[in-house]
Amino acid sequence: MHDNPLLEGLDRDRRAPPCVLVVYGASGDLTSRKIMPAIERLHRQRQLPGAFAVVGTARTEMDDDDFQKACLRSVPDAAAGWDELVKGFRYVAGDYTATETFDRLKEVLAEVDEQRGTSGNRVHYLATVPSLFDDIARALGREGMHEPRFDGSFVRIVCEKPYGRDLASARELDDAMHSAFAEDQIYRIDHYLGKETVQNTLALRFANSFFEPLWSRQHIDHVQVTVAESVGVGTRAGFYETAGALRDIVQNHVLQVLAVCAMEPPATLDATGVRDEKVKALRAIRPWDPVDVVDHVVRAQYDSGWAEGEQVKGYRSEQGVDPSSTTETYVALKLEIDNWRWAGVPFYVRTGKRLPKRVTEVAFTLKAVPHLPFTTRDSRGLSPNALVLRIQPDEGITLRFGAKVPGGSFEVRDVLMDFSYGASFLQDTPDAYERLLLDAMVGDPTLFIRTDEVEQAWQICDPILEAWNDPSYPVATYEAGSWGPKEADLLLQRDGRRWRTP
Ligand code: BG6
Repeated sequence: MHDNPLLEGLDRDRRAPPCVLVVYGASGDLTSRKIMPAIERLHRQRQLPGAFAVVGTARTEMDDDDFQKACLRSVPDAAAGWDELVKGFRYVAGDYTATETFDRLKEVLAEVDEQRGTSGNRVHYLATVPSLFDDIARALGREGMHEPRFDGSFVRIVCEKPYGRDLASARELDDAMHSAFAEDQIYRIDHYLGKETVQNTLALRFANSFFEPLWSRQHIDHVQVTVAESVGVGTRAGFYETAGALRDIVQNHVLQVLAVCAMEPPATLDATGVRDEKVKALRAIRPWDPVDVVDHVVRAQYDSGWAEGEQVKGYRSEQGVDPSSTTETYVALKLEIDNWRWAGVPFYVRTGKRLPKRVTEVAFTLKAVPHLPFTTRDSRGLSPNALVLRIQPDEGITLRFGAKVPGGSFEVRDVLMDFSYGASFLQDTPDAYERLLLDAMVGDPTLFIRTDEVEQAWQICDPILEAWNDPSYPVATYEAGSWGPKEADLLLQRDGRRWRTP
């Protein structure tokens, strides 16, 4: 328990209740890369109950033994006791449109309840390709698997992103979900909300009196959100060609981070308090009219170049990519938030693959002082103050301000004051999936996205997608390993600003 109710809910000394995690898409990449390692870490930290099991399901033909071996392979340096735990994991092969798959699942789940004492509690985790989410949700409803098996047991469903391809398909998916599950059973995941540094934004803003008085149009000139990746599309061209950076990153991760930065202080940090304020912030973001999109949004693709120390191909030459593809690997856009706090403060967003490095940050640039009493020469190394939330990889917060250069003159220039997570807290930062899986098992939806937030985020992205449907909408290019196309620089230059170099 915390004395400060605002910190309630950030308690990490929690343990999951007895339950079964049912993973759909259990033979896939997400299961081996993220879900299994997260479960192992929860096991390592004794946050899993004794009565716990995973039941995996997918189309791939495997038996329990094959699945258990795959789980062991996913976590090479596992903690003691992991092998024992994995021995209780089960697998059901089958098609999600076939009733037999779910009949078999029910049998296996009943056996697990019997053998492991998991009390009928279920967390269904949809880690498949998104096109299967509807089928699985509806099948769970048809088969009665959305309902608690016993009085007092719980059933929840965790849904991966992307949640729909646009507003209409997100609503269809929601209909499928709600045909079986109540909203409070649905946990829509956005792993950025599980990142410690995104949560720390709440602590920075609402546990301190330094920052909040500055956090508005009175003092902030503009905000830049950067989600940069050095990797290319890799082996995910099949998925990426149908998604693109706007759907893959902006609609979810960027808008969620932005909502956390722009929202009003919630009265409490519980699910309703936080999500009500986030959705209000999202509602205040002005969706561009499709005809104005071209003035505010740049879409681009990487061309060949150098990245991560090697010569790399351009997007259109990547395996599995249509050589005439218009799918964007980069988006830069300007957003305006129409409310009292932010009116007139532009939020510039950029995200892309094959940028010079992997870095996510939110930078608040403050207004310049009204009058500089220094000579132009003495103050040429001075920029406006800035507060940078470094979300990854070097997690922390930087303040940039001016200081006098030692010596006889009155030269002032920028200096940095750094808070670094690694140096201040010696324990390991939990991985986003670890936090979110535990929250889903515990039943805390605060860091999951509510249906109205999803809809609002699509309201912002839909007009952009509509404008891009026009074949004459430009697709700019940028050299792999550069900070993006010149069109993105122009977007800021028009406002007399420039992108930071993170
Ligand atoms: C995923 C996207 O949601 O986020 C990927 O589908 C992207 O394309 C990834 O690479 C980035 O996540 P992180 O945690 O590495 O910043």
